[in-house]
Amino acid sequence: MTNKQEILLTGDRPTGALHIGHYAGALSSRLEMVNSGKYKSFVMIADAQALTDNADNPAKVRENVLQVALDNLAVGIDPSRATLFIQSAVSEIQELAFYYQNMVTVARLQRNPTVKSEIAEKREKFGSSVPVGFFTYPISQAADITAFNATVVPVGEDQLPVIEQAIEIVHKFNSVYGDTLTVPRGILAANENARRLPGTDGNAKMGKSLGNVINLGDSADDIAAKIKTMFTDPLHLRVSDPGHTENNPVFIYLSVFAKPEHFAAFMPAYANYEELAAHYRRGGLGDVIVKKFLNEVMQETLRPIRARREELARDPGAVMQILHDGTIAARVVAAQTIARVKRAMKLDYFG
Ligand code: TRP
Repeated sequence: MTNKQEILLTGDRPTGALHIGHYAGALSSRLEMVNSGKYKSFVMIADAQALTDNADNPAKVRENVLQVALDNLAVGIDPSRATLFIQSAVSEIQELAFYYQNMVTVARLQRNPTVKSEIAEKREKFGSSVPVGFFTYPISQAADITAFNATVVPVGEDQLPVIEQAIEIVHKFNSVYGDTLTVPRGILAANENARRLPGTDGNAKMGKSLGNVINLGDSADDIAAKIKTMFTDPLHLRVSDPGHTENNPVFIYLSVFAKPEHFAAFMPAYANYEELAAHYRRGGLGDVIVKKFLNEVMQETLRPIRARREELARDPGAVMQILHDGTIAARVVAAQTIARVKRAMKLDYFG
């Protein structure tokens, strides 16, 4: 299928509020793309996918649908430019996934690096009893993407193998049943440090279950407290010692979030990140000062997001209405895709 209009689809699992790792790695590039107006955009709340590893906790998924919608709207996703919708309410996606199951081998799924590492991460929860739905979520994600004929899929770096597998499913389907589905491509954040933000404790991954996150909705006091106790360079004992900026989350956050206007307002002795980092590496720059600056930067970055979030949270009914309207619009598109798919598969018995 060739189509001039670029179509964007992306989504989040509603398993918890979104944090600055999501913001840096996925939300900010999503925001820029959606609000550019260059794409027909869909932002999906992947509640059905969230259930694949939370089947025993439907209340958690249910509650976080609203939280994730609030996070998206709070960072600035404009609902007049993006169709926000709830995955489980578009049953055509599940129907597509059923047919795509025939396009993928068990061995190929077992080799998917994202599936492998997520199963390893969840070892404690799953043991060797991995739910089939979780194991096969890349298939349902291929359905999410192709149901809307998406051409671009902005995602976090960890999701690239899942997009790769979706592309394979599309090629396989098109080769068996004729040119029917649109080939998508994954899009990552431009800033490499932003793609994989470490936790405040220095852990390579920021995650709710690791207790090392700064949430988009955190209060000013919470942010300050978390930054104060952040992991930094353990070899930087005296201010005069040379410091290390690599694997140092304070510097990694600054490299992602500190803008020239932050330097001008709070750290005018340096014009930019490079100058500050060079001084730290030379020695003579203390962690307390750097953390104080990071706190200013994060407060400035998160204050407007938190304010919009609080404002929106006062009227959850209005947010649910946005999701309802979006879901109705999404269903129309997905229904056209499933009709096209069934025709290609010779399943169109009744015209
Ligand atoms: N698996 C994605 C994540 O964990 C969420 C997701 C579900 C998604 N469906 C999608 C992302 C479709 C992009 C496109 O982040």
